[in-house]
Amino acid sequence: MRDLWSGPVHYTIQGVGVRAGRWSSPGHGQVKVTPVATQTLTVHQRAARSTVALKVLMAVTGIFLILFLLMHAWGNLKAFFGPEAYDHYAEWLKSDILYPLVPKGWFIWIFRVFLVACIVGHMASAYVLTLRSRAARGSYQRKDRRAQTFSARTMRWGGIILLMLLLFHLGQFTLKWFLTGFTASSTPYESVVLTFQQWYMVLLYALFVGTVCIHIRHGIWSALTTLGANTSRVARRNLNVTAIAVSALLFVGFMVMPVAVLFGGIK
Ligand code: HEM
Repeated sequence: MRDLWSGPVHYTIQGVGVRAGRWSSPGHGQVKVTPVATQTLTVHQRAARSTVALKVLMAVTGIFLILFLLMHAWGNLKAFFGPEAYDHYAEWLKSDILYPLVPKGWFIWIFRVFLVACIVGHMASAYVLTLRSRAARGSYQRKDRRAQTFSARTMRWGGIILLMLLLFHLGQFTLKWFLTGFTASSTPYESVVLTFQQWYMVLLYALFVGTVCIHIRHGIWSALTTLGANTSRVARRNLNVTAIAVSALLFVGFMVMPVAVLFGGIK
């Protein structure tokens, strides 16, 4: 039997490994305990950190973000109904939605926290899954990726470029740090109209929205596959059609307004 008094002892308490160093001489009433990380996790911890759980997290957060984009593109179309309609919509988003369930003005902040949580959850799971996939492949990294679609091959870099453009977008219209033709006191309607009267801004947004849509085209496929919809050849065809249709809808939905401004349809 192991001699408890002479060598280090290894305990596991609630998934955290604890290595007990040598007992200082018994009788002094002191025990030297050095916590060390081990691989031992509880069943619940293992489930929460499993690759499947991370993929589900990525799929679900991605779907929420797509729903936000569909709503955002729809809201932008209000510009076709004039400045009052567009500015009223922008104001309404920050006013008393869900009041009196939540105090006036709170909805937008709850919504923002939720959006940021989705973006962070989505990126963190992508990062961990990438590291795991690289570690699992070891020296057998795949070099020839021609079998994948362009969307699939550009998910990581596309995601990073997308984040940069999103930060610029928020700095421009929400925080008003980058004043692209408008002033800090311009209304939301004036801000977008004055911005998109410049062709290079329309081009930049075509790049932004295009990157979003390329990312989403593979994202929808991937998310629905994770959630169990990729079960047959017909199901795969339907997935493909859905992915292409939603991303095309988003591209047209977002870009129709800037293009209309550029060509004088919205003034
Ligand atoms: C032509 C395309 C787009 C236009 C014209 C546009 C316009 C705007 C405007 C005017 C605002 C500020 C609303 C306000 O504070 O009153 C805004 C906010 C925002 N946009 Fe966009 N947007 C476009 C595309 C996108 C895309 C592709 C994304 C995401 C990838 C995005 C994400 C956001 C987010 C997260 C906010 C902040 C919402 C908040 O205030 O909490 N937008 N957008």
